[in-house]
Amino acid sequence: MKIKTLTTAFLLVVLLIISQLIQAQLPRETETQKIQRMKWWTDARFGMFIHWGLYALPARHEWVKNYERMTNEQYQKYFESFNPDLYNPHEWARMAKEAGMKYVVLTAKHHEGFCLFDSKYTDYKSTNTPFGKDLIKEYVEAFRAEGLKVGFYYSLIDWHHPDYTIDSRHPQRQDSDTAYARLNKGKDMNRYREYMKNQVRELLTNYGEISIIWFDFSFPGKNGKGRADWDSENLLKLARSLQPGIIVDDRLDLRDVEGGWDFTTPEQVKVAKWPEMNRKKIPWETCQTFSGSWGYFRDETSWKSPAQLLELLIESVSKGGNLLLNVGPTARGMFDFRAQERLKAMGEWMKYNNRSIYGCTEAPAGFTAPANSILTYNPATGRLYVHLLAYPMSRLTLVNMADKVKYVQFLHDASEIRYSTGSNETKNDITLQLPVLKPPVEIPVLEVYLK
Ligand code: GLC
Repeated sequence: MKIKTLTTAFLLVVLLIISQLIQAQLPRETETQKIQRMKWWTDARFGMFIHWGLYALPARHEWVKNYERMTNEQYQKYFESFNPDLYNPHEWARMAKEAGMKYVVLTAKHHEGFCLFDSKYTDYKSTNTPFGKDLIKEYVEAFRAEGLKVGFYYSLIDWHHPDYTIDSRHPQRQDSDTAYARLNKGKDMNRYREYMKNQVRELLTNYGEISIIWFDFSFPGKNGKGRADWDSENLLKLARSLQPGIIVDDRLDLRDVEGGWDFTTPEQVKVAKWPEMNRKKIPWETCQTFSGSWGYFRDETSWKSPAQLLELLIESVSKGGNLLLNVGPTARGMFDFRAQERLKAMGEWMKYNNRSIYGCTEAPAGFTAPANSILTYNPATGRLYVHLLAYPMSRLTLVNMADKVKYVQFLHDASEIRYSTGSNETKNDITLQLPVLKPPVEIPVLEVYLK
């Protein structure tokens, strides 16, 4: 009898240890399972980022509180004036859809700490501004109705929360350790960590299926913050437990942890090649602005042209990646007119050419892009796409492809492109006969059917 009790007790302890061990780990999955989970995202290739918050009012960068070292009191006027009376997320969603975007990520909270949703854990939220409504709720419903996958950006950094310790990226950053110690006395990051978990729980339970969460960002080191400060692993575990399919960026400072991230996030750069880790190609998405700032910036003049933006998208796909293109709505709740123009232009192109984007990736080895062109490839249909950045004068040679090509056409109007093979020098080249006149398409695309 005694032995039996002892054995049972022993078994119970073992079970407890095992369950703890299991809990301590992020959910495991095989590489194939991960590819499967991320498939919709990889196929989508093009999404919309939206940075919206109180910083839309000063309209001079979402880091304005930091850049100008404002205190909470000085920043308060924006909270008190926040009233985006023209906010109509259905219009936003329609513009995103028409541009060809398949998913969207909105800042539920940015570094300034202001929440666009009705959180139980703070008063610093849209429902307490003159606007008085939960902006996230309407956003989620509107984009879903247009068939886009919906995501949230959630800032780990918080320049408003009383327990968030002052660090090197804070508006009240200091020059000496003693000054930091003095200012941070009484602040309790434990409480802030709890706050984040509570909010992430709210965001991932109260708004239906959420497909992406974008945590931003870590800066470990002296007077910085990293995984221990955020309790990253548990935050992520919570997110994955509430939304098992959710796709997560890599800014929680968990790059070396299995399951600690899903994709990497080169920001405002064109990557030189498909990013790798341990010599393996990894999922990636570049996030880009139209003009430099993420939040609405009235006086910025460095807006990229539609051709540059399309090139960014095509370039990303040609290296196996996604583009998350950002809009910073105004404090009235409208998309900046310059953004509207560009989205429209991109949509015009996408309407006729999206076959070279969706479901596409890097061209297989052995295919060389002609000068001034970018290749993408659809592995499911076996078609190759040649994007003509500079329109050639009548003739274009596809090197070493004669044995691979079955048929060539313009993508936008499915008109045949005739070609000849077997030039004197290289028998395996193809020379395409293009019309002299550039078709009325920003970047014309050749669709090449492969054998
Ligand atoms: C940076 C900035 C931030 C922006 C983000 C987008 O981390 O801090 O303002 O939200 O990039 O990737």
